[in-house]
Amino acid sequence: MSEHIIVSVKNLVKNYISGTETLCILQGINFDVERGSVVAVTGQSGSGKSTLLNIIGGLDRCDSGSVEVAGSEITGLSEIELSSYRQRRIGFIFQFHYLLKDFTALENVMLPAYMTGMRKKDSLEKARLLLADMKLEDRISHFPSQLSGGERQRVAVARAMVNDPDIILADEPTGNLDPRNSGMVADLLFAGAEKWGKSLIVVTHDETVACRAKIRCTLENGILGGFPLSGENALSEENALSEENALSEENALSEERAPSEERV
Ligand SMILES: Nc1ncnc2c1ncn2[C@@H]1O[C@H](COP(=O)(O)OP(=O)(O)OP(=O)(O)O)[C@@H](O)[C@H]1O
Ligand SMILES: [Mg+2]
Repeated sequence: MSEHIIVSVKNLVKNYISGTETLCILQGINFDVERGSVVAVTGQSGSGKSTLLNIIGGLDRCDSGSVEVAGSEITGLSEIELSSYRQRRIGFIFQFHYLLKDFTALENVMLPAYMTGMRKKDSLEKARLLLADMKLEDRISHFPSQLSGGERQRVAVARAMVNDPDIILADEPTGNLDPRNSGMVADLLFAGAEKWGKSLIVVTHDETVACRAKIRCTLENGILGGFPLSGENALSEENALSEENALSEENALSEERAPSEERV
């Protein structure tokens, strides 16, 4: 995998079994995310956006295919390895902030760094810096219950960045907010990702958030559309396209030979 690709997903397939039915959620997803790039994923409810994000983030497993993050394949990792991968390599932001209610904003942000071995003084300093980026300098000693919805989400953004992750995965980060707070969280999230040089994949239903991303794609019928491909993925897509073209040419030819009933 080339150095400038941070995430490379190949032929990713995920099915869920529901009773006697098999739900084919992801049906061969291919894409590469370049270091430092921002990608927005949209798609109808139930199209598999969270499933895709959760697999990349090591919260869920795929049925087949490959997911490489910063050059390491994650699909074969054990549960313990996945847990360390999530802590050190991924910054998650969810629709619900999941802050620890008995800890202040500062403690919520410093804890992931402290727990993974950073000195207390350094963790606190980093947390302060990130909270300042999120315009929360004067709220660092507030508990989650003493923060507004937008402020809580900004703490969650700071927390996602504290361990210097390879990639930030945000699933509906503004889904619970009014338009003003949604705009502010999106501004600070995008600015933070840029300042700290982080790649970001953001799943959203909010058009005003999606349109800020340089790369936009849509998940539909188990396939991710609109993604510019590079490296091996571009080559395999090219092959698939030329196969598709050859097939459609063949179909056109056979239609010419045998006119459809409609035309008769
Ligand atoms: N554990 C599971 N078992 C069975 N089906 C599941 C499971 N998890 C998700 N699904 C189904 O997979 C599909 C995709 O779910 P997912 O949460 O990824 O959708 P989504 O695109 O994130 O939707 P939304 O925009 O509403 O958040 C849904 O139809 C859902 O019901
Ligand atoms: Mg979802």
